[in-house]
Amino acid sequence: MVCLGNICRSPLAEGILKSKVDPSKVLIESAGTGHWHVGEQPDKRSIAVGKKYNIDITQQRGRQFDKSDFDNFDEIFVMDNSNKEDVLALATSNADREKVKLILNEIFPGENVDVPDPYFGGDSGFENVYKMLDEACDQIAARLN
Ligand code: 4NP
Repeated sequence: MVCLGNICRSPLAEGILKSKVDPSKVLIESAGTGHWHVGEQPDKRSIAVGKKYNIDITQQRGRQFDKSDFDNFDEIFVMDNSNKEDVLALATSNADREKVKLILNEIFPGENVDVPDPYFGGDSGFENVYKMLDEACDQIAARLN
């Protein structure tokens, strides 16, 4: 699960998908394309909306996406088209490129819709992001389970 800062959207995506699959069978992590929040806890507004739905993301710490992630993961879900460009810029093969998917294409196939970045907005943005990610993760989990 990849976003820009790894403090708002992708930590929620990680927590939500983990809650829907057997974590002993599937490795799920999140990362940011940017370096600004490496080592930080998720944004308190993401922690709060997760808590509202019984998803605890307080143990997560920000890390930056690394090209080694292409070797360690089968699928790389990006939150928006800008994240997709940034991740694809680190790809070195077609196999790498094929792993990169916009997460909302899980529920709006082929529409290439962004998960809006809630960082500069209010709490309702986080609720909205949560609901989109919950629906998308239902689709992903149905494939993995
Ligand atoms: P995220 O949100 O990509 O969903 O984690 C952001 C968090 C921080 C910044 C941008 C987006 N930032 O510019 O620091």
